[in-house]
Amino acid sequence: MEKAHIYITRKIPEVMLQPFQSAFSFRMWEKEDEPVPREILLEEVRNADAVMCVLSEKIDEEFFLAAPKVKIVANMAVGYDNMDIQAAKRHNVILTNTPDVLTETTADLGFSLLMAVARRIVEANQFIKKNQWKNWSPLLLAGTDIHHKTIGIVGMGRIGEAIARRAKGFNMDIVYHNRSRNKEAEERLQAIWLPFEQLIQEADFVVSVIPLTDETYHLFDELAFKKMKDSAIFINISRGAVVDEGALVNALESNQIRAAGLDVFEKEPIASNHPLMNLENVVCLPHIGSATKETREKMMALCLENIDSVLRNQGPKTPI
Ligand code: GLV
Repeated sequence: MEKAHIYITRKIPEVMLQPFQSAFSFRMWEKEDEPVPREILLEEVRNADAVMCVLSEKIDEEFFLAAPKVKIVANMAVGYDNMDIQAAKRHNVILTNTPDVLTETTADLGFSLLMAVARRIVEANQFIKKNQWKNWSPLLLAGTDIHHKTIGIVGMGRIGEAIARRAKGFNMDIVYHNRSRNKEAEERLQAIWLPFEQLIQEADFVVSVIPLTDETYHLFDELAFKKMKDSAIFINISRGAVVDEGALVNALESNQIRAAGLDVFEKEPIASNHPLMNLENVVCLPHIGSATKETREKMMALCLENIDSVLRNQGPKTPI
């Protein structure tokens, strides 16, 4: 019998495929750091029984029409705003993502970013490397405290909760906003649920961990930044489009808020001449929330396990 065929939209280490080589045939886009051109993707998926993709691929009606045999698309990300769920339903295709395996790693990055911004770590590093360090002085690169401040977590899912656990270790007060209450976080971490409007007014650190949906698009807009404290630090590790970037630039330029740490952008990769890149009070990262070798390997393995399970008619492990 012919082996089921799997297309992978980005180069991943061959060793990841080894456990599945006897059951399936694979093809993958040959570049690790460049997306597969759309026309090649649409051509490649024509004969695929399953597809493993990354978050820059649009998995939409056009994709499903081009992939008539496909039974499952496994997204190598926990967020799935790149996938059209209704279209997948219409075409009877299972979608999966990679929850849990990246929770702690992404929370580490989110909290690192918060600390880097508050304590001006990146600026300080540049300061020495540019040979600007001439003397110790009382307020040299003075940042702002993290401990005993209030962290406002917007989106108290798995990653939000993992950030709250880190904040607890820093004796921070934890407030959060989420559509539904997270009673466990309230009990274990003394996290307090607040309406969004109140959270952004009270928090010293506003951390966005909220998925991108029609409802959360540009949630952080001009009005939201106006309501924040002028000492507030805004951190975004979820999706760029939950922020109106023009409004964020204005808020940072006019000192409506103190600073921002961003791992995600409306358009990725963001151009190096984007107005956000000219601001000293911004630390930017190239969407590396889950980027440790250990976690990325777990994410790849989970995608392949989902595909294996679905193609063996055993159902997905982590369905969307
Ligand atoms: C990364 O952003 C992810 O959703 O896993």
